[in-house]
Amino acid sequence: MEYRIGLVGCGTVGQGLLEILLKKKEYLREKLDFEAKVVAISDMLKGSLIIPEGIAIERLLRLLGQGKKIGDYLEGKPNDAERMDALEVIEKCDADIIAELTYTDIKTAEPATSHVKKALQTGKHVVTSNKGPAALFYEDLKKLAQENNLFFRIEGTVMSGTPVFNLFENSFAGNTIKQIKGILNGTTNFILTKMEEENMAYEDALKLAQNLGYAEADPTADVEGYDALAKIVILSNVLLGGNLSPSDAKREGITGLSKEKILEAKKKGYRYKLIASTRKENGGIEAGVSPQKLPLSDPLAGVMGANNALTFDLDLLGKVTIQGPGAGRTETGYSILIDMLAIHRQLSKQLIRR
Ligand code: HSE
Repeated sequence: MEYRIGLVGCGTVGQGLLEILLKKKEYLREKLDFEAKVVAISDMLKGSLIIPEGIAIERLLRLLGQGKKIGDYLEGKPNDAERMDALEVIEKCDADIIAELTYTDIKTAEPATSHVKKALQTGKHVVTSNKGPAALFYEDLKKLAQENNLFFRIEGTVMSGTPVFNLFENSFAGNTIKQIKGILNGTTNFILTKMEEENMAYEDALKLAQNLGYAEADPTADVEGYDALAKIVILSNVLLGGNLSPSDAKREGITGLSKEKILEAKKKGYRYKLIASTRKENGGIEAGVSPQKLPLSDPLAGVMGANNALTFDLDLLGKVTIQGPGAGRTETGYSILIDMLAIHRQLSKQLIRR
């Protein structure tokens, strides 16, 4: 089946997705009967383009690699989309699926939430890696999607392409969750690892994380725990059925954690990690983020560098820990592909049932 795709945001994640679509084109078509035709792209800095017949991904990536604008694809021919903002591109293009890949603004969740709404109101499925809409407005957006017979999927918001929501939908189905606990921010885990293992100063480790592209545009979101908080709120609401907003959960980042404290703990066989956790408690949900001293026997203590991990405490399975990348170009691009494939599987099933 062919799907017309619109990309809103064509930075690291958008280009990561395009690279995967190009590299796996044959595989996706032959093994999974999935074909992606990119018909529209809108990026705040790079411009916009709508081509109903499909954009040649290889050529577009080459232009972007040379630092050119998206409109340069048309080699001087008129580009009607050039003066459109993202909302207009979403409305005017004939995409089946919009991939919302703009930067997260965790305080307002904008402009991403408006993009998601516009797509759902104009008959397009949405897949996103943007944490804002999922942390602040998941219930409303999910409802809007359902009312319009559409999908709103958010795999990339937590642990990039390491499956969490898809894992639950499929392989963990039937379990009730007692608790979820884990490491959900790559930047802080990277900083803590460098401080402990290489005796690096906090500032140097943070700079390195920024250079490697793990950190948020404003790294305060990482080091003060806002990013991990958004992710644990998403998990609480989507997997535990909660209705939390970020202000309902406790938050403490790693800026109060000295190297002395980290090395002292190491001597005693413990390791500090920024832990996010959530569980049902007295009819409500208790969620929070804080640095915690873990014994080395805890699987989360062995998670190093920019990796993320989650331990699920499940009624049928007991404790299961998953570990994997939590950020990155290909890794987050992949999360978008998994969700598009999930939509494809659902729509294929509906076709068979008819
Ligand atoms: N800044 C985030 C991190 C990126 O360090 O984990 C992925 O959400």
